[in-house]
Amino acid sequence: MSQESPAGQAERVRAALARVIDPELRRPITELGMVERVEVTGTRATVDVLLTVAGCPLKDTIEADVRRELAGVPGVDGVEVNLGVMTSEARRALVDSLKRHVVPFTQPDSLTRVIAIASGKGGVGKSSLTVNLAAALAERGLSVGIIDADVLGFSVPGLMGLSGASPTRVDELIVPPVAHGVKVMSIGMFLADNAPVMWRGPMLHRALEQFVSEVHFGDLDVLLLDLPPGTGDVAISVSQLLPGTQQIVVTTPQHAAAEVAERAGSMALSTGQSVLGVVENMSWMDLPDGSRLTPFGEGGGREVASRLSAAAGTEVPLLARLPLDPSLREGGDDGVPVVLGAPDSPAGLALRELAGRIAVQPRGLAGRSLGISPR
Ligand SMILES: Nc1ncnc2c1ncn2[C@@H]1O[C@H](COP(=O)(O)OP(=O)(O)OP(=O)(O)O)[C@@H](O)[C@H]1O
Ligand SMILES: [Mg+2]
Repeated sequence: MSQESPAGQAERVRAALARVIDPELRRPITELGMVERVEVTGTRATVDVLLTVAGCPLKDTIEADVRRELAGVPGVDGVEVNLGVMTSEARRALVDSLKRHVVPFTQPDSLTRVIAIASGKGGVGKSSLTVNLAAALAERGLSVGIIDADVLGFSVPGLMGLSGASPTRVDELIVPPVAHGVKVMSIGMFLADNAPVMWRGPMLHRALEQFVSEVHFGDLDVLLLDLPPGTGDVAISVSQLLPGTQQIVVTTPQHAAAEVAERAGSMALSTGQSVLGVVENMSWMDLPDGSRLTPFGEGGGREVASRLSAAAGTEVPLLARLPLDPSLREGGDDGVPVVLGAPDSPAGLALRELAGRIAVQPRGLAGRSLGISPR
């Protein structure tokens, strides 16, 4: 090994450095222009690494990762790591190159499936479903992001254990925090002390526009949007900003809730989006004595699915029925989705099965509008 030429050794060191992933930008430091210099003299390697910002909180992690990877290079037994900071020009070049990497969600050939979780009524479990689906899909190895599109009533940071977390900024690029393997973006991360957001349509639209265009999600397999209840401004903005969005419509088994839920689905169809399917939540509750309660009645999910199938002219399936389960609520309170915290609970099992169904679905025409507007 010591016969290796210095140039060849430097190549090996670079190859090892390519395995060091920047914890925030989640790309190899070699691709990010963070490796300024590699020099090998005898068995000694000197590496100059440039951090994106001065006082980068992750500098120790990066240095430790560099040392770990270089320790595995044959013929290198001494490593010197010098940490510096990028010039503003270098940072600008990095931002530009990352922007080129941003998945163009709006392109018809984008590989990211954008799935919005919608409902007519509030409180039916949209946000709970969003975070659990996301965590379960990430656990299956998919690259997943969430946009908390319920700008006025954001709840995703709390449900994902990200209360108090804030995104990192690399110049004008926003890097989302990651929880349970999911990249998460919410307006809540930009507000101090749970301040209320009192915005009207144009501001809501602008916030969503920034989330889809200026946030560096990287290459996602699935982007989930947690929508506010109803068919308001945000739903319209989503249809304009992300026209290829597929919707999952959430309802309870109650007849009245089903009627309202159908409106959310019909709106999606009339704006050219597709409906992936319906999820009925709070369908039943199993009691310790073995009996089963159906406090919200029965049949709402099936009802919404069949009406939307008629409206879409193609089958809109009832994807899942989820039980009422205290562990789902507890998981939300603790910031650990039930699919991870109590995977074998009734809700955990049902949600993981749903994630399995969604993970294998291709982006298809199923449920897509035929362009006929409902009256
Ligand atoms: N299957 C379930 N079992 C037990 N509790 C549930 C279930 N689904 C939702 N909940 C609880 O119901 C409440 C409302 O759920 P969630 O916030 O997910 O609904 P939402 O549709 O997002 O509400 P909003 O319209 O206010 O955004 C939460 O406290 C949640 O923990
Ligand atoms: Mg919600």
